[in-house]
Amino acid sequence: MKALQIIQYGTLKDSLSIQEVEKPEIKANDILVEVKAASLNPIDYKLAEGHLKDMVPLNLPTTIGYDVSGIVIALGDDVQNFELGDEIYARVPQEQMGTVAEYVAINVKYAAKKPLNSSFEEAAALPLAGLTAIQALERVGIKKDDRILIHAGSGGVGSFAIQYAKIKGAIVYTTTSTKNVDWVKALGADRVIDYKTENYQDVAENLDIVFDTLGNDYTLDAFNIIKDGGSVTSIVGPPDEETAKQMGMTDYTLPEKLAQLIEKKLATYKLTWMQPNAAQLQTVATMVDAGAIKPIIDLIYPFEDGVSAYEYLAEGSAKGKVIISLT
Ligand SMILES: NC(=O)c1ccc[n+]([C@@H]2O[C@H](COP(=O)([O-])OP(=O)(O)OC[C@H]3O[C@@H](n4cnc5c(N)ncnc54)[C@H](OP(=O)(O)O)[C@@H]3O)[C@@H](O)[C@H]2O)c1
Repeated sequence: MKALQIIQYGTLKDSLSIQEVEKPEIKANDILVEVKAASLNPIDYKLAEGHLKDMVPLNLPTTIGYDVSGIVIALGDDVQNFELGDEIYARVPQEQMGTVAEYVAINVKYAAKKPLNSSFEEAAALPLAGLTAIQALERVGIKKDDRILIHAGSGGVGSFAIQYAKIKGAIVYTTTSTKNVDWVKALGADRVIDYKTENYQDVAENLDIVFDTLGNDYTLDAFNIIKDGGSVTSIVGPPDEETAKQMGMTDYTLPEKLAQLIEKKLATYKLTWMQPNAAQLQTVATMVDAGAIKPIIDLIYPFEDGVSAYEYLAEGSAKGKVIISLT
């Protein structure tokens, strides 16, 4: 079968290549999926460029991609909850990474039936970004009437997070650039802050939650705009102590400046490292079928143009998700 593989670390042009590889074998709890669409995530190109090689060591060459939708074409001996022909979607676990390919094996713990009303491309857009947004927002207990700032509302994670925060009844501020203001507003954000013309710290103050999807100064500056006792929930900042422990980082202490800000604001700070979760995907499918969440797609590339698709995503200006179609 054909697969888009990371063949070495380096620039995307040098590191990615379409290769002929063996079809994956399935274990007792796996389904074999004929891939119809895969969506791309920043972690994919960060892996290919070698930025995460200490944290997520890879045995190269290896097929890229975590998000997928497709059709079940074979069942492992112990699989009970799926049938041949089922249309599924998933964020595969690390050991089964490799969704930008004609076929992928997936442990059933990580797969769910895709939303009935979504195309394969739309379904593939949802898993990693959706699970990340839900897990990061639930980690700080988002609830009705919370005032939240979601950074990068036009990104893959941000565009899902806005919709989810509105379902929870929150009052949503979000940042994006001028060209995206109108369509991000249409996702339900109450106040879209154009970071080209406005300083978000002047507009959003006294917040219950900041969702930090940008990192560095954005993580620290979030403490300027939360109320005392508020929360900063990050997906790109330094680990909190609980997450560090889960990631096996022994003897970890919070960076001093961050620890001081948490203390000064009596704040909660969390870093979420998304975990694949089929039950949450089932909930996402229900929300999508009810029309409460809309998958947001920027561009769809054919499989042959996979490298260009990753180069586009890595420019950092995607409007929602970038998809590779194999139909
Ligand atoms: N911890 C985890 O488990 C986890 C999971 C998923 C993602 N992540 C990380 O979270 C980050 C976001 O992921 P993503 O998939 O949403 O990325 P993405 O889709 O590539 O984000 C692109 C978006 O970011 C916006 N943006 C860039 N700079 C901005 C700024 N200064 N202010 C406001 N918006 C800005 C861009 O809008 P403009 O074009 O308008 O600038 C663009 O729409 C990535 O670093 C990713 O690696 C972590």
